[in-house]
Amino acid sequence: SKPTILVARRVFPEIIDLLQRHFEVEANQEDTPWTKAELAQRLRGKAGAFTTGSERIDAEVLAQAPELRVCANMAVGFNNFDLAAMTARGVLGTNTPDVLTETTADFGFALLMATARRVAESEHYLRAGKWERWTYDMFAGTEVHGSTLGILGMGRIGQGIARRGAHGFGMNVIYHNRSRLAPALEAECKARYVSKEELLRTADHLLLVLPYSAESHHAIGAAELALMKPTANLVNIARGGIVDDAALAQALRERRIAAAGLDVFEGEPKVHPALLEVPNVVLTPHIASATIPTRLAMARLAADNLVGFLVDGKPVTPLNPEVLGRAR
Ligand code: GLV
Ligand code: GLV
Repeated sequence: SKPTILVARRVFPEIIDLLQRHFEVEANQEDTPWTKAELAQRLRGKAGAFTTGSERIDAEVLAQAPELRVCANMAVGFNNFDLAAMTARGVLGTNTPDVLTETTADFGFALLMATARRVAESEHYLRAGKWERWTYDMFAGTEVHGSTLGILGMGRIGQGIARRGAHGFGMNVIYHNRSRLAPALEAECKARYVSKEELLRTADHLLLVLPYSAESHHAIGAAELALMKPTANLVNIARGGIVDDAALAQALRERRIAAAGLDVFEGEPKVHPALLEVPNVVLTPHIASATIPTRLAMARLAADNLVGFLVDGKPVTPLNPEVLGRAR
C-alpha cells in the first residue's frame, strides 16, 4: 500500500494531485491553524510531512511520530527544524534551495528601493489625502545608484543581490560572510570582502541575507546599529531574530539610521509594536519568494523530495544526508 503523508498547510491543488499519485495524503487544504500538539498528533502514523517554515519539528514532536521518516520543507530556510533531533531519530529533512534564489534577490532590491526612496511612506501620505502641493524636499530619500551596498551573508541570494547592485545600479558592493567567495565569484559579483565592522561602518544600504542560527541571533543589535551611518538603510529578507527588533525600532525612532525594510520579524506573524509606530520602516509579511512560478517551483521541489525519498530512496535536496541508508 502507499505510504501516508501529512501536508501541514494549504498548497497548490496540482501539488496535492501529484502527491496523491504516490501517497495516501492527509492535507490541511482549509489551512486550519494547528497547535504543536495537534500537529504532533496528526503526524502519528505518517511516513512523511510536507511542511513550511511555520511548523516546528523538534524532539517533542518527533517522539510522538515514530513512523516519520522525512520532513520536506517548502522553504530554503529550515530553522523550524531541529535538525540534530531529526538526525538523531533518523528523520530526513529537505529544503528548497536554488529555485527561489533570483526571485528572492529581486525582492531584496524591491525592499531596498522602497526603503531608500520612501515608497510606502509616500503612498500612505497620498492615500490619506495629505497631498496638497508638491514641495522640493517631499519624501526626499537616499541615493541607490552609485552608493555602497553592504551584504551580510553571501550565499546564492546574497550573490544575486550583489550582481544586481554592481551590474544594474553601478553600486560599490562590499560583503561579509563566514567564508570568502572564490576569487572568480568575487570578480563576477564585483564584491569586495570586508570585516563585519567595516561593512557596518561603510554601507549606505545594508542587506541581511544570512541563515538564522544560534550564531546569527541578534547579529544586528544596538551595538551594530550604532556603527552604521545615520544616513544608512537596513534591509532584512533573511529571518526574524537576526535583528534585535526592539533595538532597531529605537534606532529608527531616534533617526540613528535613516530607514529599514523588513520582510521578516522576531516572533512573526506578530510584529514588534514599536516597529508599527515608526514611519521610516517598510514592512512586508515574509513574501520575498512570493511569485506564483517560484512558489510553485518550491512546492514541486518539496513534493519531489517526498516522492524521491519515500518511493525511490533518493531525495533531491537533503539537509542531513547522513541519515540516508541508515537502518532504523
Ligand atoms: C523563506 O523564508 C524561505 O526560507 O524559503
Ligand atoms: C540561499 O539559497 C542562500 O544561499 O542564500
